Amino acid sequence: MAFAQSINGGLRRIPAWTIYIVGVIYAGWEFWRALNQMGPYLVEPINVLERSYGEVALILLVAGLAVTPLRKWSGVNLIKFRRAIGVTAFFYVLAHFLVFAILDVQSVSRVWEEIVKRPYVTVGMASFLMLIPLAVTSNNPSIRKMGAGAWRKLHKLAYPAAVLGTIHYLWLVKGFQLEPIIYCVVVLGLIATRYVPWERQRQPA
Ligand code: HEM
Repeated sequence: MAFAQSINGGLRRIPAWTIYIVGVIYAGWEFWRALNQMGPYLVEPINVLERSYGEVALILLVAGLAVTPLRKWSGVNLIKFRRAIGVTAFFYVLAHFLVFAILDVQSVSRVWEEIVKRPYVTVGMASFLMLIPLAVTSNNPSIRKMGAGAWRKLHKLAYPAAVLGTIHYLWLVKGFQLEPIIYCVVVLGLIATRYVPWERQRQPA
């Protein structure tokens, strides 16, 4: 526990908004690299950028789900960063979608066609739509207006949204690839922690 307390001590000094700053700087840096075809962006920069934003979105969705079990089992408390992680995840899904819609397929009718025609895009879109109300209500006035109970119920949408995000990735890859499977297992495992009574679970404050 001493280890967790020393980490929590350090975390207390880091403002939650740093997550937004890092998120915007990284997205801008990746866009800049794509624009200048630097490093991995030498070939097909638009596709690489699309996938890069998608991957960061998925990592942030997983990080958001990991906050509660991490606190329960290790005592490391990242709760104050959870909203920023969730909103930044949404920002990356939005950037991922905009790269797809504006730079990749470049027409509204083609976007619709892809959503209807390609199941992995349909699933990605469903996940994106589920994240919109979560991003819109990730603020204190919304919690007050909705009431904590209704707000917590709505934010359980984060679970199916994360699962669909991993299915989207799993479905789009060709052949056997371990990475999307690992994402799927981790997301399902993190969601399961909410429903499995572990003896170490502490009573909510
Ligand atoms: C929560 C929502 C979403 C997440 C987490 C997500 C995540 C990802 C990930 C991880 C990849 C693969 C990256 C790689 O190959 O390394 C990907 C690819 C892709 N996503 Fe999404 N995505 C989401 C929503 C969407 C939406 C809404 C659309 C479009 C309507 C979309 C369109 C695509 C396309 C077209 C690719 C394939 C790019 C290619 O390799 O050709 N995604 N996404």
